[in-house]
Amino acid sequence: MQHLSNLVRSLSESETLKMAKISRELASQGLDIINLNLGEPDFDVPAHIQAAAKQAIDDNFSHYPPVAGYPELRKAISEKFKRENNVDFAPDQVVVSTGAKQSIANVVLSLINPGDEVLVPTPFWVSYKDIITLAGGIPVYIKTTVATDFKVKPEQLEQAITERSRLFMFSSPSNPTGVVYTKEELQGLATVFARHPQITILSDEIYEHIQFARKHETIAQFPEVKDRTVIVNGLSKSFAMTGWRIGYIGAPKWIAEACEKIQGQITSGTSSVMQRAAITAINGDLEPTLKMCAVFKKRMELMVELFSKIPGVKFAIPEGAFYIFPDVSHYFGKRNGDTRIANASDLAMYLLYQAHVSLVAGDAFGDPNCIRIAFSISEEKIAIAVERIRKALSELK
Ligand SMILES: Cc1ncc(COP(=O)(O)O)c(C=O)c1O
Repeated sequence: MQHLSNLVRSLSESETLKMAKISRELASQGLDIINLNLGEPDFDVPAHIQAAAKQAIDDNFSHYPPVAGYPELRKAISEKFKRENNVDFAPDQVVVSTGAKQSIANVVLSLINPGDEVLVPTPFWVSYKDIITLAGGIPVYIKTTVATDFKVKPEQLEQAITERSRLFMFSSPSNPTGVVYTKEELQGLATVFARHPQITILSDEIYEHIQFARKHETIAQFPEVKDRTVIVNGLSKSFAMTGWRIGYIGAPKWIAEACEKIQGQITSGTSSVMQRAAITAINGDLEPTLKMCAVFKKRMELMVELFSKIPGVKFAIPEGAFYIFPDVSHYFGKRNGDTRIANASDLAMYLLYQAHVSLVAGDAFGDPNCIRIAFSISEEKIAIAVERIRKALSELK
């Protein structure tokens, strides 16, 4: 007899992983599938960080580390917050975790009781919804569309807030849209939060260093919310270290302590070796990151140029991260032979079978009119992929 918990049954299957599985199957049949759903940089970990990991093994960093992270690493992160973001988080306000995903889960599980409302602008990063579900919280979606540049307006936020609102979570730069809130826009949101002291803000800044338009701004800089903002960040995207599993938070002390408590019962903290290497990454220079970012910027420009030529497709110009999130609703209701496109999921399947490109429907991100395309592949492949998409779409009548 198989007894699965209600909890696990309430979680959705990862849409990204599902598409990746089907495209692998098609590729194994010999089809040339271009993968546009890779949520990670296609770069190597910078050499000085690799060397630090090897050194940590030689130096026998093999025992359980402190749950919240090595003191040197928490200090390095505290200094990074000051140096790069001009925000004060003392080392005891920093908790290092097994990726930013665990950091987010720690925060949500620390703050949310069943029935509490969590405000989430759509489109959102897929895991937000399921992490909120895990905690028994109720996601309250604040809808944004391509027409408003996928950004929440202060009036919209004000309207969505109720007595039960406990947490607001968002990412800027955004996965899946690539849009980035300006300082003024963040100030607008902070002004609303000033009137609602019961709400904590989770600011997911994992794409901090992959930005194309201007310097990074954090909502934590505003005095009206500083004492109740948790910054989530990590090394996955900035240093191409997705597999090394290092994420962290800067948080009010009481939240940091709660996260440490949860983590102490679930993982006992993240890998000792990777933490030692993370010290080098955080204290080291950002040259390799900046180079990687320049490559992403060129790819973004190419994506924008090519997608601009496809009729009926609308999108916000990505200012950060490595995704573009076109609204493809123009093609809903059209058909190619026996294949009819009712929604973004149909379109994603159609493009997989017809154009041999693998991408994710926007439904998983809370926007059924869009598809998400990652540009973590070469410019050469981008050009081929977008041409295939253009051709397949032109065959829909
Ligand atoms: C917006 C956002 N937050 C958090 C994460 C999780 O990152 P990590 O690899 O550090 O768990 C991702 C990864 O795709 C992401 O896109």
